[in-house]
Amino acid sequence: MSLYRVWRPKSFSELVGQDTVVRTLTSALAAGKLAHAYLFSGPRGSGKTSAAKILARCIDCVAGPTPTPDNTCENCRAIVDGTALDVLEIDAASNRGIDEIRALRDAVKFAPSAMRMKVYIIDEAHMLTKEGANAFLRTLEEPPPHAVFILATTEPERLPVTILSRCQRYAFRRIAIPVMIARMREIAHSENIRIDDAALAAIAYRADGGLRDALTMLEQAAAFGGKEGTIDTGTIDLAFGSAGREQAAALVDAVLARDASAALRAIEAASDAGADLAVLTRTLVAEFRNVLVARVDPELLARDLAPEDAARAMRIAPDLSQARIVRALRVL
Ligand SMILES: Nc1ncnc2c1ncn2[C@@H]1O[C@H](COP(=O)(O)OP(=O)(O)OP(=O)(O)O)[C@@H](O)[C@H]1O
Ligand SMILES: [Mg+2]
Ligand SMILES: [Zn+2]
Repeated sequence: MSLYRVWRPKSFSELVGQDTVVRTLTSALAAGKLAHAYLFSGPRGSGKTSAAKILARCIDCVAGPTPTPDNTCENCRAIVDGTALDVLEIDAASNRGIDEIRALRDAVKFAPSAMRMKVYIIDEAHMLTKEGANAFLRTLEEPPPHAVFILATTEPERLPVTILSRCQRYAFRRIAIPVMIARMREIAHSENIRIDDAALAAIAYRADGGLRDALTMLEQAAAFGGKEGTIDTGTIDLAFGSAGREQAAALVDAVLARDASAALRAIEAASDAGADLAVLTRTLVAEFRNVLVARVDPELLARDLAPEDAARAMRIAPDLSQARIVRALRVL
């Protein structure tokens, strides 16, 4: 089974980088407040489906409703195994949901067969057709007291406002680089994957806020790097192509020193490493942007970057005037 599925978070404490969502849901559950419909929106691979499955257990755990389901009672186990009759997952992407939504409308009236509540998880909800969405809206307008709906979507703006306005909304965020690094480090450790911090950072930057993509890359890098040595940035560049991050850093240093020949050599090194020069340019823009942020708000930088990169930008910042940074950004 792939790494990201093995490491699906089983409780809110394992759902990383979504502190606001977790805090709000936890306190509502602790106060015994349940909504009829929840909407989890946010970028790919940020934990929406995982959170929906956790919430289903919070609601239907024998010891619940609780923010901390035991994951061991018969209800929790049935939900984890996907065999619970009262927790239904509908993937709106695969069949656009019309038949399922019709069936849902008929079935939702009946009381749950074994659990406290019937929970419907509607994944990729924005993929519902107009007819599907309309049919669902009618259910949502008069939800039976024993039903809870959890919608997950990457594109909430594609859902009709009539549905949006009936859901309690939770916005999932792109997972921050340091958070992704920490989670990957933990998983790599447990899986006996040896990888250094710079390589973890290189994966995290590539994953663009999605932890699923990060874990998929980690797994590929482990397969690629073999059993022997430690995975380093070289392995990552070989496996996924170079983003030229090291060369971009050298280029910034060259600009700082006004050293044209060092700059040319950095570009040649990037090209030798197989970096796409358009990608290198983007990386360079990011480098200068980081230095600019380091001048304005260093704390923000620490939240956004791997520690070494934040430290680097902070070190350079005093030597580059804001005007020079802005000029570099314009030129790039
Ligand atoms: N916030 C998170 N904390 C811990 N692991 C996460 C988190 N987000 C994603 N993951 C990892 O990525 C996998 C996929 O996450 P999940 O299916 O919940 O994402 P999603 O937001 O529903 O993505 P999509 O929009 O593509 O459906 C999980 O099994 C887990 O390994
Ligand atoms: Mg999902
Ligand atoms: Zn339980």
